[in-house]
Amino acid sequence: MRKPIIAGNHKMNLTPLQTRNLLTELVKNLIDYDQVEIIVSPPFTSLAMADEVLRATDIQLAAQNVHQAAQGAYTGEVSAKMLKASGCQWVICGHSERRNLFQESNELVNKKIRAVTAMGLKPILCVGETLAERELGQTNQVLARQISGSLQGFQQSDLLELVVAYEPVWAIGTGKTAASADAEAGCQFIRSHLKTQFGPKLADSIRILYGGSVKPGNIKELMAEKNIDGALVGGASLKSADFLAIVKYHE
Ligand code: PGA
Repeated sequence: MRKPIIAGNHKMNLTPLQTRNLLTELVKNLIDYDQVEIIVSPPFTSLAMADEVLRATDIQLAAQNVHQAAQGAYTGEVSAKMLKASGCQWVICGHSERRNLFQESNELVNKKIRAVTAMGLKPILCVGETLAERELGQTNQVLARQISGSLQGFQQSDLLELVVAYEPVWAIGTGKTAASADAEAGCQFIRSHLKTQFGPKLADSIRILYGGSVKPGNIKELMAEKNIDGALVGGASLKSADFLAIVKYHE
């Protein structure tokens, strides 16, 4: 009942022309492919080009970040309204690289999700523990704190389109994928926490993705887990053959 999502996060990679080439290749190979929802997230500078390539397709567009304010004197920032007008349906909020490299707190992520939902865009909330936190046995506490803080003050009705991505920081860009049992444990904990906060109906409908070194070789095993409803793919989303193999994991 939860349709799987495969989302590609291009991070700070690809010029508009390179984005066009990659997405053109995806579109060609995914005509009428409706087994999963497909999302791509290029950098801001490639959104207009991506929107042009994807407009007549089912592949959806996500931004990698947003500013929490509606508009104003925030040099270098981009608002939710601008993202919507650029063709985005989704916004990634609280990616660990933003939390760790750009000091984004749960409080800030909360404000960003508010800006996103107020504009009718859909948030992909990223959560995940660092290696040190995992080794101290704090994984669940960290996930609970990130979810509670990022979603504080929201009503169930605000979160009908929410997607959560469990991305253990130690697995991102390291080639070290979490064992599928560990990935499942994280996703299961997230769902149970959402259940206590927002009730079983919403928690059972929210799609929870795993992210961290997802590749063609491990996607099938990850997707076989009960609480993993898809993947947020970084490095492997930059090569069309790899991303296509991940999208078509059940073939
Ligand atoms: P990775 O990145 O697949 O390169 O590990 C995942 C992510 O950061 O979303």
